[in-house]
Amino acid sequence: MFRTDDPAEYRRSCNELRLTGPVAFVPTMGALHEGHLTLMREAKRRAKHVAVSIFVNPTQFGPNEDLALYPRDLPGDLDKCRSVGVDVVFTPEPRSMYLPGEATRVGVEALTDELCGASRPGHFDGVCTVVSKLFCLTGECTAVFGQKDYQQLKVIQRMVADLFLPVEVVGHPIVRESDGLAMSSRNRYLDPEERTRALSLSEGLSRASLAFSEGERAPRALETLVTECLQSAGAVIDYVSCADPERLSRLPDAARPERALLAVAAFVGKTRLIDNRVLPDEAELAVVAGAGA
Ligand code: PAF
Repeated sequence: MFRTDDPAEYRRSCNELRLTGPVAFVPTMGALHEGHLTLMREAKRRAKHVAVSIFVNPTQFGPNEDLALYPRDLPGDLDKCRSVGVDVVFTPEPRSMYLPGEATRVGVEALTDELCGASRPGHFDGVCTVVSKLFCLTGECTAVFGQKDYQQLKVIQRMVADLFLPVEVVGHPIVRESDGLAMSSRNRYLDPEERTRALSLSEGLSRASLAFSEGERAPRALETLVTECLQSAGAVIDYVSCADPERLSRLPDAARPERALLAVAAFVGKTRLIDNRVLPDEAELAVVAGAGA
Protein backbone atom coordinates (compact mmCIF):
# COMPACT_ATOMS: atom_id res chain seq x y z
CA MET A 1 0.00 0.00 0.00
CA PHE A 2 1.33 3.41 -0.99
CA ARG A 3 0.74 6.43 1.24
CA THR A 4 1.36 10.04 0.38
CA ASP A 5 0.48 13.44 1.78
CA ASP A 6 1.46 15.23 -1.42
CA PRO A 7 -1.42 16.12 -3.81
CA ALA A 8 0.73 15.88 -6.96
CA GLU A 9 2.12 12.51 -5.93
CA TYR A 10 -1.39 11.25 -5.11
CA ARG A 11 -2.64 12.36 -8.55
CA ARG A 12 0.33 10.61 -10.21
CA SER A 13 -0.34 7.44 -8.25
CA CYS A 14 -4.03 7.36 -9.28
CA ASN A 15 -3.06 7.98 -12.91
CA GLU A 16 -0.58 5.08 -12.76
CA LEU A 17 -3.14 2.75 -11.18
CA ARG A 18 -5.63 3.62 -13.93
CA LEU A 19 -3.17 2.32 -16.55
CA THR A 20 -3.92 -1.23 -15.33
CA GLY A 21 -7.58 -0.90 -14.34
CA PRO A 22 -10.33 1.32 -12.96
CA VAL A 23 -10.03 3.12 -9.63
CA ALA A 24 -12.69 3.35 -6.92
CA PHE A 25 -12.32 6.05 -4.28
CA VAL A 26 -13.50 6.33 -0.67
CA PRO A 27 -13.07 9.79 0.90
CA THR A 28 -12.94 9.75 4.72
CA MET A 29 -12.02 11.89 7.69
CA GLY A 30 -10.27 8.94 9.35
CA ALA A 31 -11.05 7.37 12.75
CA LEU A 32 -12.02 4.46 10.54
CA HIS A 33 -14.58 1.90 11.67
CA GLU A 34 -16.35 -1.09 10.16
CA GLY A 35 -18.68 1.25 8.23
CA HIS A 36 -15.71 2.76 6.36
CA LEU A 37 -14.17 -0.67 5.77
CA THR A 38 -17.46 -1.83 4.26
CA LEU A 39 -17.28 1.11 1.82
CA MET A 40 -13.71 0.13 0.95
CA ARG A 41 -14.73 -3.50 0.34
CA GLU A 42 -17.55 -2.22 -1.88
CA ALA A 43 -14.99 -0.06 -3.73
CA LYS A 44 -12.80 -3.16 -4.22
CA ARG A 45 -15.79 -5.07 -5.57
CA ARG A 46 -16.43 -2.30 -8.11
CA ALA A 47 -12.91 -1.57 -9.34
CA LYS A 48 -9.48 -3.14 -9.61
CA HIS A 49 -7.81 -0.42 -7.54
CA VAL A 50 -8.92 1.41 -4.40
CA ALA A 51 -7.86 4.89 -3.30
CA VAL A 52 -8.75 6.29 0.12
CA SER A 53 -8.30 9.80 1.49
CA ILE A 54 -7.98 10.56 5.19
CA PHE A 55 -8.41 14.27 5.84
CA VAL A 56 -10.24 16.06 8.63
CA ASN A 57 -11.51 18.91 6.49
CA PRO A 58 -11.54 22.16 8.51
CA THR A 59 -13.89 24.05 6.19
CA GLN A 60 -16.86 21.76 6.89
CA PHE A 61 -16.81 22.42 10.65
CA GLY A 62 -18.59 25.41 12.16
CA PRO A 63 -16.85 27.64 14.74
CA ASN A 64 -18.52 25.85 17.68
CA GLU A 65 -18.17 22.33 16.34
CA ASP A 66 -15.77 19.49 17.15
CA LEU A 67 -12.88 20.10 14.68
CA ALA A 68 -10.18 20.21 17.39
CA LEU A 69 -11.60 17.17 19.18
CA TYR A 70 -12.41 15.11 16.09
CA PRO A 71 -10.90 11.64 16.70
CA ARG A 72 -7.62 10.96 14.92
CA ASP A 73 -5.77 7.64 14.68
CA LEU A 74 -3.57 7.61 11.59
CA PRO A 75 -1.49 4.48 12.42
CA GLY A 76 -4.67 2.49 13.21
CA ASP A 77 -6.37 3.85 10.07
CA LEU A 78 -3.46 2.82 7.84
CA ASP A 79 -3.50 -0.72 9.29
CA LYS A 80 -7.23 -0.94 8.58
CA CYS A 81 -6.77 0.28 4.99
CA ARG A 82 -4.01 -2.29 4.50
CA SER A 83 -6.24 -5.05 5.88
CA VAL A 84 -8.85 -4.52 3.16
CA GLY A 85 -6.37 -4.21 0.29
CA VAL A 86 -6.39 -0.45 -0.36
CA ASP A 87 -3.80 0.54 -3.01
CA VAL A 88 -3.18 4.19 -2.18
CA VAL A 89 -3.95 6.35 0.84
CA PHE A 90 -3.87 10.13 0.60
CA THR A 91 -3.26 11.86 3.94
CA PRO A 92 -2.79 15.58 3.14
CA GLU A 93 -2.21 18.42 5.60
CA PRO A 94 -4.71 21.31 5.58
CA ARG A 95 -2.05 23.64 4.11
CA SER A 96 -1.67 21.49 0.99
CA MET A 97 -5.44 21.22 0.40
CA TYR A 98 -6.01 24.95 1.06
CA LEU A 99 -3.13 26.85 -0.53
CA PRO A 100 -2.08 30.30 0.67
CA GLY A 101 -4.49 32.82 -0.83
CA GLU A 102 -7.05 30.14 -1.67
CA ALA A 103 -10.37 31.76 -2.53
CA THR A 104 -12.57 29.10 -4.09
CA ARG A 105 -15.65 27.49 -2.60
CA VAL A 106 -18.00 25.05 -4.27
CA GLY A 107 -21.65 25.08 -3.24
CA VAL A 108 -24.85 23.30 -4.19
CA GLU A 109 -28.11 25.19 -3.84
CA ALA A 110 -31.60 24.03 -2.78
CA LEU A 111 -30.59 20.54 -1.65
CA THR A 112 -28.60 22.14 1.16
CA ASP A 113 -31.42 24.38 2.44
CA GLU A 114 -32.85 21.93 4.98
CA LEU A 115 -31.77 19.12 7.34
CA CYS A 116 -28.04 19.38 8.19
CA GLY A 117 -27.68 22.27 5.73
CA ALA A 118 -30.03 24.37 7.89
CA SER A 119 -28.48 23.47 11.24
CA ARG A 120 -24.83 23.56 10.10
CA PRO A 121 -24.48 26.74 7.99
CA GLY A 122 -21.56 26.49 5.55
CA HIS A 123 -21.07 22.77 6.22
CA PHE A 124 -21.95 21.61 2.72
CA ASP A 125 -19.87 24.33 1.05
CA GLY A 126 -16.91 22.89 2.96
CA VAL A 127 -17.83 19.33 1.98
CA CYS A 128 -18.38 20.21 -1.70
CA THR A 129 -15.17 22.20 -1.84
CA VAL A 130 -12.98 19.45 -0.40
CA VAL A 131 -14.71 16.64 -2.28
CA SER A 132 -14.36 18.46 -5.60
CA LYS A 133 -10.63 18.97 -4.88
CA LEU A 134 -10.29 15.27 -4.00
CA PHE A 135 -12.17 14.26 -7.18
CA CYS A 136 -9.91 16.55 -9.28
CA LEU A 137 -6.83 14.84 -7.82
CA THR A 138 -8.19 11.28 -8.00
CA GLY A 139 -9.45 11.64 -11.58
CA GLU A 140 -11.91 9.29 -13.25
CA CYS A 141 -13.29 6.93 -10.63
CA THR A 142 -16.25 5.41 -8.87
CA ALA A 143 -16.67 7.12 -5.49
CA VAL A 144 -18.41 5.26 -2.67
CA PHE A 145 -20.30 7.18 0.04
CA GLY A 146 -22.29 5.92 3.02
CA GLN A 147 -26.03 6.60 3.10
CA LYS A 148 -25.89 7.58 6.77
CA ASP A 149 -24.96 11.01 5.37
CA TYR A 150 -27.92 10.82 3.00
CA GLN A 151 -27.99 14.57 2.31
CA GLN A 152 -24.25 14.59 1.62
CA LEU A 153 -24.68 11.76 -0.90
CA LYS A 154 -27.45 13.63 -2.76
CA VAL A 155 -25.52 16.90 -2.71
CA ILE A 156 -22.36 15.27 -4.08
CA GLN A 157 -24.33 13.49 -6.82
CA ARG A 158 -25.84 16.88 -7.83
CA MET A 159 -22.42 18.56 -7.79
CA VAL A 160 -20.83 15.84 -9.93
CA ALA A 161 -23.66 16.05 -12.49
CA ASP A 162 -23.60 19.86 -12.59
CA LEU A 163 -19.79 20.09 -12.95
CA PHE A 164 -19.45 17.16 -15.40
CA LEU A 165 -16.91 15.54 -13.10
CA PRO A 166 -15.74 12.12 -14.35
CA VAL A 167 -16.97 10.37 -11.23
CA GLU A 168 -19.72 7.83 -10.67
CA VAL A 169 -21.06 8.43 -7.15
CA VAL A 170 -22.60 5.40 -5.49
CA GLY A 171 -24.30 5.16 -2.11
CA HIS A 172 -23.88 2.23 0.25
CA PRO A 173 -26.54 1.25 2.83
CA ILE A 174 -25.96 2.32 6.43
CA VAL A 175 -23.77 -0.07 8.40
CA ARG A 176 -25.16 -0.63 11.92
CA GLU A 177 -23.92 -2.11 15.16
CA SER A 178 -25.73 -5.33 16.12
CA ASP A 179 -28.16 -3.32 18.31
CA GLY A 180 -29.04 -0.93 15.48
CA LEU A 181 -26.86 2.12 16.20
CA ALA A 182 -25.57 3.54 12.92
CA MET A 183 -21.78 3.34 12.85
CA SER A 184 -20.05 6.70 13.14
CA SER A 185 -16.62 7.96 14.14
CA ARG A 186 -18.43 10.17 16.67
CA ASN A 187 -19.85 7.11 18.52
CA ARG A 188 -16.53 6.90 20.34
CA TYR A 189 -17.41 10.14 22.17
CA LEU A 190 -20.33 8.37 23.90
CA ASP A 191 -19.98 7.07 27.46
CA PRO A 192 -21.79 3.77 28.21
CA GLU A 193 -24.96 5.51 29.44
CA GLU A 194 -25.05 7.81 26.38
CA ARG A 195 -24.36 4.83 24.11
CA THR A 196 -27.59 3.25 25.39
CA ARG A 197 -29.56 6.48 24.97
CA ALA A 198 -28.17 6.87 21.43
CA LEU A 199 -30.20 3.83 20.42
CA SER A 200 -33.26 6.07 20.49
CA LEU A 201 -32.35 7.34 16.99
CA SER A 202 -32.47 3.94 15.29
CA GLU A 203 -35.35 2.76 17.50
CA GLY A 204 -37.46 5.82 16.68
CA LEU A 205 -36.82 5.30 12.97
CA SER A 206 -37.71 1.61 13.29
CA ARG A 207 -41.01 2.45 14.97
CA ALA A 208 -41.86 4.93 12.23
CA SER A 209 -40.79 2.46 9.57
CA LEU A 210 -43.07 -0.19 11.05
CA ALA A 211 -45.95 2.30 11.17
CA PHE A 212 -45.27 3.18 7.52
CA SER A 213 -45.36 -0.50 6.57
CA GLU A 214 -48.70 -0.76 8.38
CA GLY A 215 -50.13 2.10 6.34
CA GLU A 216 -49.29 5.30 8.25
CA ARG A 217 -48.48 7.99 5.67
CA ALA A 218 -49.01 11.28 7.54
CA PRO A 219 -45.58 12.99 7.68
CA ARG A 220 -46.15 14.65 11.09
CA ALA A 221 -47.39 11.39 12.63
CA LEU A 222 -44.27 9.58 11.40
CA GLU A 223 -42.06 12.36 12.76
CA THR A 224 -43.87 12.22 16.11
CA LEU A 225 -43.02 8.53 16.54
CA VAL A 226 -39.32 9.39 16.21
CA THR A 227 -39.57 12.54 18.36
CA GLU A 228 -41.26 10.68 21.23
CA CYS A 229 -38.57 8.01 21.24
CA LEU A 230 -35.77 10.62 21.29
CA GLN A 231 -37.46 12.66 24.01
CA SER A 232 -38.02 9.67 26.27
CA ALA A 233 -34.27 8.92 26.01
CA GLY A 234 -33.42 12.53 26.89
CA ALA A 235 -31.83 13.25 23.50
CA VAL A 236 -31.92 16.90 22.38
CA ILE A 237 -33.47 17.08 18.95
CA ASP A 238 -31.81 19.10 16.22
CA TYR A 239 -34.32 18.01 13.59
CA VAL A 240 -36.69 15.20 12.74
CA SER A 241 -37.91 15.49 9.18
CA CYS A 242 -40.13 13.42 6.96
CA ALA A 243 -38.89 14.67 3.61
CA ASP A 244 -39.00 14.10 -0.10
CA PRO A 245 -36.17 11.60 -0.71
CA GLU A 246 -34.96 13.42 -3.85
CA ARG A 247 -35.52 17.13 -3.08
CA LEU A 248 -34.90 16.69 0.68
CA SER A 249 -37.59 19.27 1.50
CA ARG A 250 -39.92 18.54 4.42
CA LEU A 251 -43.23 17.13 3.20
CA PRO A 252 -46.44 19.06 3.95
CA ASP A 253 -48.70 17.29 6.44
CA ALA A 254 -51.33 16.79 3.75
CA ALA A 255 -48.90 14.68 1.71
CA ARG A 256 -49.40 10.92 1.66
CA PRO A 257 -46.05 9.82 0.20
CA GLU A 258 -45.38 6.40 -1.26
CA ARG A 259 -41.67 7.01 -0.57
CA ALA A 260 -40.20 9.26 2.08
CA LEU A 261 -36.92 10.07 3.75
CA LEU A 262 -37.15 10.08 7.52
CA ALA A 263 -34.06 11.86 8.79
CA VAL A 264 -32.98 12.72 12.30
CA ALA A 265 -30.18 14.65 14.02
CA ALA A 266 -29.99 14.80 17.80
CA PHE A 267 -27.54 15.49 20.57
CA VAL A 268 -26.89 12.73 23.10
CA GLY A 269 -24.86 14.52 25.73
CA LYS A 270 -22.50 16.69 23.69
CA THR A 271 -22.40 14.32 20.73
CA ARG A 272 -24.43 15.15 17.63
CA LEU A 273 -25.63 11.99 15.87
CA ILE A 274 -27.54 11.53 12.63
CA ASP A 275 -29.50 8.64 11.18
CA ASN A 276 -32.17 8.09 8.53
CA ARG A 277 -34.41 5.60 6.77
CA VAL A 278 -35.82 5.73 3.29
CA LEU A 279 -39.37 4.39 3.55
CA PRO A 280 -40.56 1.89 2.64
CA ASP A 281 -37.53 0.18 4.08
CA GLU A 282 -36.45 -2.47 1.60
CA ALA A 283 -35.01 -4.75 4.30
CA GLU A 284 -38.30 -4.58 6.21
CA LEU A 285 -40.29 -5.27 3.02
CA ALA A 286 -38.15 -8.37 2.46
CA VAL A 287 -39.01 -9.59 5.97
CA VAL A 288 -42.72 -8.90 5.44
CA ALA A 289 -42.59 -10.55 1.99
CA GLY A 290 -40.82 -13.58 3.47
CA ALA A 291 -43.21 -13.88 6.42
CA GLY A 292 -45.88 -15.83 4.60
CA ALA A 293 -43.47 -18.00 2.58
O1 PAF B 1 -18.34 12.00 5.10
C1 PAF B 1 -17.20 12.41 5.41
O2 PAF B 1 -16.44 11.74 6.10
C2 PAF B 1 -16.75 13.78 4.92
O3 PAF B 1 -17.80 14.68 4.87
C3 PAF B 1 -16.01 13.71 3.57
C4 PAF B 1 -16.90 13.22 2.46
C5 PAF B 1 -14.80 12.79 3.67
C6 PAF B 1 -15.52 15.11 3.17
O4 PAF B 1 -14.65 15.63 4.11
